[in-house]
Amino acid sequence: MRLLQPVTLLDPSQLLRPESAFDGKPLSAFRDYSVDDEDPVRMRVRRTYYNMHTNMTVDFVKGKMNKWLKFNHFKATVKEALVRLNELVDESDPDTDLPNIVHAFQTAERIREDHPDDDWFHLTGLIHDLGKVMAFYEEPQWCVVGDTFPVGCKWGPSIVYGDHSFRDNPDTYNTKYK
Ligand SMILES: [Fe+2]
Repeated sequence: MRLLQPVTLLDPSQLLRPESAFDGKPLSAFRDYSVDDEDPVRMRVRRTYYNMHTNMTVDFVKGKMNKWLKFNHFKATVKEALVRLNELVDESDPDTDLPNIVHAFQTAERIREDHPDDDWFHLTGLIHDLGKVMAFYEEPQWCVVGDTFPVGCKWGPSIVYGDHSFRDNPDTYNTKYK
C-alpha cells in the first residue's frame, strides 16, 4: 500500500514540555557537566557517563533485555522499590548527593504543583527512576542511571559529553549505525 499523505506522529508529551517556560532560566541553574579534575563530584559524574558511553552497545543492551525482561530477579511493591532508593545516591547527578527517593518525591510534588489535575503525570514523576533499583542487583551505576539515549544509530548531538565520550564504544565504528 502506498501512503498518499505523510503520516504525522503525535507525541503527547510535547503538550506538557516545560522548555518555553524556562526561556529566561540562567545558565547556572541548569545541570553543569563541565570538566573539572579538581572537583570530585564532577569527576564522578564524568566517569559514570564515560563508562556508560563506552559500554552501552546494541549487543550489551540486548543482553540486559534478555536478563531483565524475564522478571525473575525480585518482587517488590512500588513503595518498597522507592524505599530501596533511599540507599542510592545517583553518581551521574552533578546537583545532589541526596538519596534518590528524595528526587522521586521532589519530582512528583513539583509536577503536582504545576499540573494539579494530571494525576497520571504525578505518578510518572514518582516512578520515573525506579529502574535504578537494578543497581542493587549487580548492575553498575553507569548501566542504570543518567540520561538515556538510543543505541543502534548515530549518536545524537545533544548527548552529554558528546562524541568524545563515545570514542571507545565499538558501535561508534560500526557502519550499520551511521
Ligand atoms: Fe530522575
